[in-house]
Amino acid sequence: MRKLAAGNWKMNGVLADLTEIANIAQTHPEPSVDILICPPATLIAPAVAMSGPIAIGAQDCHAADQGAHTGDISAKQICDVGACYVITGHSERRQDHGETDAQIHDKTRAAHYAGLIAIICIGETLDERNSGATLDVLGKQLAGSVPSTATAQNTVIAYEPVWAIGTGLIPTIDQITETHDFIRATVQQRFGSQAIEMRLLYGGSVKGSNAAEIFAVPNVDGALVGGASLKAQDFGPIIRALENA
Ligand code: PGA
Repeated sequence: MRKLAAGNWKMNGVLADLTEIANIAQTHPEPSVDILICPPATLIAPAVAMSGPIAIGAQDCHAADQGAHTGDISAKQICDVGACYVITGHSERRQDHGETDAQIHDKTRAAHYAGLIAIICIGETLDERNSGATLDVLGKQLAGSVPSTATAQNTVIAYEPVWAIGTGLIPTIDQITETHDFIRATVQQRFGSQAIEMRLLYGGSVKGSNAAEIFAVPNVDGALVGGASLKAQDFGPIIRALENA
């Protein structure tokens, strides 16, 4: 399996920031891992045009192909401009837009039908962790948001504890090991032995300084990176740590 270093720019970046993608492409002309940037929707088409070996993805999609959904973008439209990934169910979508597992399931299925690779995000809040509910929460999110169309090729699962996103806090290595082992066992139970090849990413405050120890965890096949993906000088060391893992 090729590991995946994925950057989520969230609502950051204007045309001038495409130079960051150009820089990453220039410093990693033949990467030994997959590299992905998910810029805001306004930058997807121009990013595809100059991204070289870097894949480009979207941060969300609608469950329908087309129609009266003001402000939304369909998986088909994302694919049409040359992007090949979409993030679904990010905790900021779940929080800011009240997205449910059922909606995330339908968006992900639409992504699969359109030929996109979906990165489905799951993760517990701090209250849920403190009350010992983490694995229960992850189990429910996996059952509710991963559609039966998922394969090891078209689906990536990102474990992102909500309390670790943008906070500088990360779970202990034991906690990451426990959750990733649980996610692997759960997808294997449902999808069989092919799920050994389904990529599982860790996300939440990944930086150059903590990447190597996170990537040493057996069922961690890469990272979904927010803040540290905005600048090539911050994302580069994370990519290198994954290449060396
Ligand atoms: P962060 O965000 O790396 O800034 O913590 C991760 C994410 O939300 O995907």
